[in-house]
Order: sequence, then C-alpha cells, then structure tokens
Amino acid sequence: MRVLHVCSELFPYLKTGGLADVTGALPGALIALGVDVRVLLPAFPAIRAKLAEQGEVAHVNTPFGAVRIGFAKLPGNGTEAGAGVYLIDAPAFYDRPGNPYQDDAQQPYTDNHRRFALLGWLAAELASGLDPFWRPDVVHGHDWHAGLAPAYLVARGRPAKSVLTVHNMAYQGLFPAKVFGELALPEHFFDVAGVEFHGKVSFLKAGLYYADHITTVSPTYAAEITTEEQGCGLDGLLRGRVADLSGVLNGVDDAVWSPSRDPLIAASYTADKPTGKAKCKQALQETLGLSTESEGPLFAVVSRITEQKGLHLVLDTLDEIVSRGGQFVLLGSGDADKEAAFVERAAANPQQVAVRIGYDEAKSHRIMAGADVIMVPSRFEPCGLTQLYGLKYGALPLVRRVGGLADTVVDAALENLADETATGFVFDDFTAAGLTVAIRRAFALWAQPKAWKAVRRNGMRQDFGWGASAAAYLALYQSLLNG
Ligand code: ADP
Ligand code: GLC
Repeated sequence: MRVLHVCSELFPYLKTGGLADVTGALPGALIALGVDVRVLLPAFPAIRAKLAEQGEVAHVNTPFGAVRIGFAKLPGNGTEAGAGVYLIDAPAFYDRPGNPYQDDAQQPYTDNHRRFALLGWLAAELASGLDPFWRPDVVHGHDWHAGLAPAYLVARGRPAKSVLTVHNMAYQGLFPAKVFGELALPEHFFDVAGVEFHGKVSFLKAGLYYADHITTVSPTYAAEITTEEQGCGLDGLLRGRVADLSGVLNGVDDAVWSPSRDPLIAASYTADKPTGKAKCKQALQETLGLSTESEGPLFAVVSRITEQKGLHLVLDTLDEIVSRGGQFVLLGSGDADKEAAFVERAAANPQQVAVRIGYDEAKSHRIMAGADVIMVPSRFEPCGLTQLYGLKYGALPLVRRVGGLADTVVDAALENLADETATGFVFDDFTAAGLTVAIRRAFALWAQPKAWKAVRRNGMRQDFGWGASAAAYLALYQSLLNG
C-alpha cells in the first residue's frame, strides 16, 4: 500500500509546533508496519539546508507557475529505510527565511493561497502519475495547508483515496472569495457544498468537505469539534460527516524522547531507576539561576504563547506556586504582551521563577527532565504532546480536562491513587480558581513523597509510542481501499 503524506512541517528539519513532531514520526511508524510511505513537502530553506536532495523527479507546469520536484530520503532507524520525500522546489513561493506561514511582522504572506494550493495541487498530480515509478493509493494531508488536496483529487475523478487530519481547527486557511479564480478548481466548487465558507474560500473546509475520511488527533477532540463551542463554525459540516470522522491519538517518538538515552539531558534515568532525574533538576536550576536549595516542586511550561494555551491562568496563579515554596520555569514564544509579563515576573523573583523567551529544542528536553510538573492549562487542545513528554520524563502533567489532555492524563484523585492509575492532575474550570485547586493538589501530593513517586513511576510506564496510532491509521487506509 502506498501512502503520500502532505504537510508543511517535518521534525527535525522545520517545526513550529506539534504538527512537525507528528509528520516527523508517523511515516517511520507506518513503514515499520509495511506501508510504503512518501512525504510531499515545500522545500523551505530550513529543509533544503538539512535534507540533501538526491535526485530530480520532474519539472511541472502548474497553475501557479513552473516548479521542479526533487527527491530526498529521510534517514531510517537502523531496521527500516526512511520515507522518500518529494521536495517542491518553487523559490518564488518558499525561499523565504523564518516561519513558513508568516513574515517577520507575523503577518500571513499575502500569497499563501497560491503557496499552499500548489502543495495540494501537486499531491493530486502525484496521485495522477506524475512520478511514473510511484503513485499513491492514499493521499493523507495534514491541516489546512494540505486542505485543497482532497478537492483537487475529486476534481480529477478521485485517482486516490484521501484522508485529512485536523491538528487544529483554529487555523483554517481563510481567503477572500476573489482568490477562488486563481485556484484552478471547477467553478461549482465555490459553494456551501464545497470550499465556500461564509463568502470566503476556506482551505480547511475544502479538506473536510472533500476528503474520504477526516481524522483528528484525539478521540475527545473528534467529539468536541462537532459542537458549536469548539467547531470553529464547521461543526455543522462535521456533524453531517460523523460516519467519516475519527480520532487517533498522537504518539511519542521514542528515538527523540526517552530519558534513558537522551543525549541532551544531564543524566539518564528510567521509571525503575529514577535517581538521574534529581541530577537533571539540579542542573536545570543551575543553568536557569534558580535556587538549588528549594525543596518545593519545579513547575514548567514549554509552549507556544497563544490564546489556545491558557497561559494567562498561569500568570494569575504564579504567586500561589511561589508562596507555597515552588519554583517555575517557562520556555516559549508568541504573544508579546504575555512574553513581557512572564519576563517581569522572573525579574522580580529570579531565585524562584525563570523565563526563557524563544524556541529551543535542547532546552525543552532539559526542562522536561528537570521539572516535577508540566503545566498545560489549555482552553482547547487537539492532542497536546508536551504532557506526553512530561509523562515519559517524570514531570507530572497538570492539565485541563479538554481534548487530548483529557484522553492522556489520569487525575490523582483518591480512587485513582488507590488503584494506581493516577498519572497527573486534571482540572475542569478554565479559571484561575480552577487551576489553583489543581496546583494545591499538586503540593498536597508533593508532601507525600512516596505517593508522588508512585504516580511518577506510573506515568513513566505509560506507553504512548507511535505503534498503536500507526496501526489505527493503517486500519483506516485498509478500510478506505476496501470500501
Ligand atoms: P502545539 O502543536 O499546539 O504547539 P503540542 O503540545 O502538540 O502543541 O506540541 C508542541 C511542540 O512544540 C512540542 O514538541 C513542544 O516541546 C514544542 N515546543 C513548543 N514551544 C517550544 C519552545 N519554545 N522551545 C522548544 N520547543 C517548543
Ligand atoms: C496542533 C495542536 C496540538 C497537537 C498538534 C499535533 O498544533 O494544537 O494539540 O498535539 O497539533 O497533532
């Protein structure tokens, strides 16, 4: 079975969020199950710099200009070969430094509709035989960037089955109606039954409408997006497609995230031999300039700083953490006002609070290894990966009961402690008061070191590897091809 993944980010080459972690790991996990996987990706500078092109597939005239398709191979894992990658060489579109979606002033590029229509268009072209040696049976797109792929496939008479995975409903790829004429889609596709969304062109809606199957990255989020509250205006469409909508939880790439063999952290450790974690905590405190005398738990946030992540609640409850003798570290970037507010709090109390603005992969590993609690108080969270990394690294997740967070963390309630299923702290109300209760419960557990260690061990033993998720995608592909 041949499956083409269509995406705009790929760890470790280019990453703005969890999407890259998923597209970086899922192809390998599918290859391990015998699927023949390739990836279609714009050749952004960061990708071109780190992924050597090994050949040329084609020169193509497209509705968006002439482009060249190069070919590269991802490194394998020692047992299996890595996935092949079709690189879209279109410098006029993709050769821009920095973020793949927006300029330095954080404004979306004005030609994004053409930049990402090209991605979808080429996916359909590959399904129609662009590469005579490899033609996908299934085209699997990720997020709005690949949203037009299913539409182009339908326009061409469905040469392959299509799957669209929604990693985040909040990003929709909305453009003024006037761009429709530039997309080379049949005229009647600009319709409520099609790509039109309240008078605009929506790439995400196109994907949701035309894909043979829709997945999202957790079962709870799959249910949530069919509600008005979380459907971002597309819940009606999704309710009409529930038979073709499912949730498949993301996994963790063990090759990248394993405290027993992570070269980025100060000492290695495991669930059964956790002593190295104390060394990691001390090393982290030292590099951050936090007091190493502190006996309290170290709370951490590693996150994009956006509305979604609920970080204003963390600002509102920071005093609670500090006054109880805890410490806090944030690594993140995004909203400038909130960045400044966190920086100010660290300046006021440098022994207990550390803030690092920016994006730093190595630091994110050191924080997971050194922290006692990883906080994810999101307003909504399609899956969330940091709580899974926290579980593996013995940083107890403190999360809001929403989306994938609800599916992956078991609250340290008395009954869950008693039957040894607890792995973290879960709260419901999206308010500072709601978060405060969870923080107080974390301190209460910290006061009982044996119980804390038992919860930590239990969390570290959870298996959120990619195996089960890849098997679920494989079963889905099979059902589409047999259906
Ligand atoms: P989202 O995709 O919504 O940002 P996820 O939890 O799925 O949320 O994934 C976030 C990913 O980005 C994780 O791998 C996390 O470690 C990483 N990350 C977020 N912010 C930073 C940062 N400032 N530095 C390093 N890694 C970060
Ligand atoms: C999105 C979501 C996040 C999810 C990630 C990978 O960025 O916000 O919850 O884990 O995609 O699927």
